[in-house]
Amino acid sequence: MLKWLDQRTGFVTMTTEFLTEDVPGGASYWYAFGSATVFAMMLQIATGIFLTFYYSPSAATAWESTKYIIEKVPAGGLVLSLHYWGATAMIAFMMMHMLQVLLWGAYKKPRELQWIVGVILFIVTLVLGLTGYLLPWDLNALLASKVAIQIAGSAPIAGKAVLLFLQDGSGIGTLTINRFFGIHVWLTPAVLVLLVGMHLAIFRWNGSAGPPIDEMPKLKPGRFWPDQMFMDTVVSFAMFVIVFALAVFSPAPLDAKADPNNTQFVPYPAWYFMALFSLLDVVGSVHLPSAVIDFLGLFATIIFPTLLIVVLIALPFIDKNPSRRLSRRPVVLVCTGLVLGGAIILSFVGQYHVQEQQMLHGINASAATTSTAGGVYAVDTTKNGGAGGKVTASTAGAGATVYTTNCAGCHNAEGTGTPNVFPPLKSNPVVTGPADAVIAIVNNGLTTPITVDGAKYSGAMPAWKGNLTPQQIADVVTYIRSAWGNKASAVTAAQVSAAK
Ligand code: HEC
Repeated sequence: MLKWLDQRTGFVTMTTEFLTEDVPGGASYWYAFGSATVFAMMLQIATGIFLTFYYSPSAATAWESTKYIIEKVPAGGLVLSLHYWGATAMIAFMMMHMLQVLLWGAYKKPRELQWIVGVILFIVTLVLGLTGYLLPWDLNALLASKVAIQIAGSAPIAGKAVLLFLQDGSGIGTLTINRFFGIHVWLTPAVLVLLVGMHLAIFRWNGSAGPPIDEMPKLKPGRFWPDQMFMDTVVSFAMFVIVFALAVFSPAPLDAKADPNNTQFVPYPAWYFMALFSLLDVVGSVHLPSAVIDFLGLFATIIFPTLLIVVLIALPFIDKNPSRRLSRRPVVLVCTGLVLGGAIILSFVGQYHVQEQQMLHGINASAATTSTAGGVYAVDTTKNGGAGGKVTASTAGAGATVYTTNCAGCHNAEGTGTPNVFPPLKSNPVVTGPADAVIAIVNNGLTTPITVDGAKYSGAMPAWKGNLTPQQIADVVTYIRSAWGNKASAVTAAQVSAAK
């Protein structure tokens, strides 16, 4: 059979040649980062295809279909979470792979082209991460992507055109989702697979570089099969186990649906963009004339990353030193250390800063945590009509939307709150009590400690006057007074305007 196949296709000979290739210096776990990255890519493709069966890219359906995947599709939440953590794994392993090649000087002659293709792969993968970030169309997706789109738009010369292309319209909406979807699902994966093929083909041509030493011939070569293959499999498998555990125990978050009018939410970028985000933040917080700040901002977001990429691509031609020994390459090692150390410190500063901002704004920290619990945003708009007699269906429906976007993050979709943190609104006598008192709380917020159903609450309820219109406040108060079995009178915009 094999002979028959081989005579007609050459597959068997090809596979044998592939498997029996020598590995200079012997097989090593150090070589497994690259193959683990490829494995993560395959995981992303498999889970991504599954997600496209259910995901629907438009402003009216993106968030809803994501929620549907999490809640209704069998194993949908798991697959989405695998895709979510798989992205992190792919980028993390790619970075480790790149760092190792950098440290070992494996980019040197004759592997310049392989390195350059690798750097392009790095960029393409980051674009995949960036475009995927928008697709769930929750608050964080929208607001973080808005920052990214604005940054792209601020680029000199091409900025405007790039902005128009990405956004595809005057604002971020359905067309933007479609652009990002097209880039994320078709363009970049196609380019990625092509480049990975090239990367591997060049790799086969040159063979692996081996450890960072100069006296290579003295080393006795190892075998790809079964030694290296075994190690690659072990590392990929370990990665999969970790990704799987993360997907099960820390599922992909889904915040409240994207709302361009929400000014409270503090977006958090993906961890691999945190350093850049933080750099922009640091630059924005220094006290200097605005023209200088503008330039520094441009430097942080456009000029510096571009320079870094140019230097990376040109590295094999800049660093002509033929030696690969660590001790003979101090400049490259020190520069790598500085950039890496800087990125790590900036990421921590950024992380801290985002958390601080979220505490200040209260709203999103909790929106993010409650959403990870999965499925708390289910608002059944059919349930809230009728009760209280005067509630019209349209007001209750509008109130449900205001509630989902602004209140559900803390008080929960079902109005049940979180014991001792956020009070329940369901079966809460204050909520169904005098309308003016409820209006006053929603208008002005509340910080005095309260007791509901025996549990104490001493957090801060944000003030909504100014952030929501009187009509929206009337809608949402009407909604909380009539949803989840609550029965109390509806409230009008006039009542809200008249209140303090
Ligand atoms: C950042 C989280 C957060 C958000 C968002 C939020 N609340 Fe609250 N809410 C609280 C906290 C905390 C309290 C309790 C405050 C206290 O202990 O003084 C509270 C209290 C209340 C109360 C008073 C309950 C009582 O028993 O006295 C009402 C009514 C209420 N919220 C309605 C709303 C509505 C309507 C929205 C959306 C427009 C909303 N909340 C959004 C955190 C939040």
